Amino acid sequence: MSRILSAVAWPYANGPRHIGHVAGFGVPSDVFSRYMRMAGHDVLMVSGTDEHGTPILVQAEEAGVTPQALADRYNRVIVEDLQALGLSYDLFTRTTAVNHERVVQEMFRTVWKNGYMVEQTTMGAISPSTGRTLPDRYIEGTCPLCGYQNARGDQCDNCGNQLDPVDLINPRSRINGETPKFVESNHFFLDLPALVDALAAWLHTRSHWRPNVLNFSLNLLDDVKPRAMTRDIDWGIPVPLEGWESNPNKRLYVWFDAVIGYLSASIEWSRRKALASGNAPDADAWRAWWNDPEARGYYFMGKDNITFHSQIWPAELLAYNGQGSRGGEPGSYGVLNLPTEVVSSEFLTMEGKKFSSSRGIVIYVRDMLARYQADALRYFIAVAGPESHDADFTWEEFRRRTNDELVASWGNLVNRTCNLIHKNLGAIPPAPRPDALQDQDRAVLGVTQAAFKEVGDAIEGQRQRAGITAAMRAVGEVNRYLADTAPWKLAKGSDEDRARMADVLHVAAQAVSDCNRLLAPFLPHSARDVDKALGFDRPFGDEPVIEEVQDLDDPSRSYPIITGDYSDALVWGSEPVPAGQAVPPAKPVFQKLDESIVEEELARMAG
Ligand code: MF3
Ligand code: ZN
Repeated sequence: MSRILSAVAWPYANGPRHIGHVAGFGVPSDVFSRYMRMAGHDVLMVSGTDEHGTPILVQAEEAGVTPQALADRYNRVIVEDLQALGLSYDLFTRTTAVNHERVVQEMFRTVWKNGYMVEQTTMGAISPSTGRTLPDRYIEGTCPLCGYQNARGDQCDNCGNQLDPVDLINPRSRINGETPKFVESNHFFLDLPALVDALAAWLHTRSHWRPNVLNFSLNLLDDVKPRAMTRDIDWGIPVPLEGWESNPNKRLYVWFDAVIGYLSASIEWSRRKALASGNAPDADAWRAWWNDPEARGYYFMGKDNITFHSQIWPAELLAYNGQGSRGGEPGSYGVLNLPTEVVSSEFLTMEGKKFSSSRGIVIYVRDMLARYQADALRYFIAVAGPESHDADFTWEEFRRRTNDELVASWGNLVNRTCNLIHKNLGAIPPAPRPDALQDQDRAVLGVTQAAFKEVGDAIEGQRQRAGITAAMRAVGEVNRYLADTAPWKLAKGSDEDRARMADVLHVAAQAVSDCNRLLAPFLPHSARDVDKALGFDRPFGDEPVIEEVQDLDDPSRSYPIITGDYSDALVWGSEPVPAGQAVPPAKPVFQKLDESIVEEELARMAG
């Protein structure tokens, strides 16, 4: 049993999330966390909405609301969507929680005290006509990296690179089109050169990472420069130093704050636990995942986030721990663990094109779940998602996978097995006597039992496509077993045939139960339905719930969180099905998709 931190990238609260987003951070982190819980580990899965920085500000301006109001709106939408998709966070919170702000400030202060936050003068933009500071978000220009003409001062939406306004070619003010003037402005820089040796030493021990993530991260070490961790912006966390804190136009850089969310959410989770249990020591429960070097931490994201998780965040941690070339002492949180693994997926495209809300090339999680089963989407992402190569979502392929694989292979197996038992026996028959077991019985049970190791190893090794493929291969073997043994024929035969039928149906029920567990991390909603179909009536203890809570430090604010009690999760492994358990008439578990949905969805996209 190990402590496992499942650290899931924080979605920006500047709009609803589409399926490309949840293919990157959502489904992979949930499959991993569910499996690790079933395998007996103590999992802490945390995330929240990322609510500071330019993306929120720009969006709020367009909507004519305050940034907080905009973040409130989309925080709620995102919470509802991620919960509906079954993402089993222990805590999904937000970066505007007061707890987060305090943790971020504590991190900053210690990093600064340890000498890794250096003040430097840079060129900041001002408006020549008013003489006032022109925050990054008001500056647009041509991206120096890809030539995109409408790159923002902080980031290019075309190539995804982070930018500095001063790097833009032909910069212009979004307010009045004038060319900004660059004047000196003070900022704090994370002193990456003083941390690079420690970073390199750590990265060189990460040989088990996916090669694309590791190589990308190693390449970043070649050219490290101090990196600005404060911005000329008025929406964000104040810089907790005298002379800075009260300056409304200087804030911590959104990425400095967001990655600290993994720690702050762990702390918030502990504080909430202490509050609920009335047991004060629970408030320190987070330390078991952060201070114990045996605990492991896995970070899930899309590939545009790698730099921040394999360089900036580890550098912040090393600086906090006092482990760079300037030495230092950890702050009150003690020595904090660096990531065990940065698990990044590649990009998902839609009908061959890049997702684009403005061009309508998008399907939001909300719309998807209004029309299709959550597990159908989860299945597609797990089996055909962008795990280590870019992948394409097409409606035709979604329909085909759902119908041919989920409905025809898995759903049908459950249906046939349960109906045969219901009609012919009413209940799960007893296990065959050992001498009655035939080779084909032993073979099929051998397949499903062996699959636990294969699927489990694949998930733990971040090869989820291989994992679900192996689970579906087991399903295929059980289908073949039913075809070969043809219990529906035995049902019409002699007493001997009917005795054989009962044995076959016991084996089939056992194999279906095994397959259901193998698939449960991927398909948690249907796993409950299949369990019921087999006649079980038990809590699964794996459903994330939304709770409306008060901010722990500001009772005037409340917000929705995703949380859950996952302590009753089923165990990873074959468990004997109970003989005599009544099996009800089967209902289809998966919804078959009509051919017409493809045209309908394509028309929606076009229109
Ligand atoms: N909000 C960022 C994005 O959507 C991800 C932030 S991940 C965090 O790309 F770790 F920094 F929180
Ligand atoms: Zn670019």
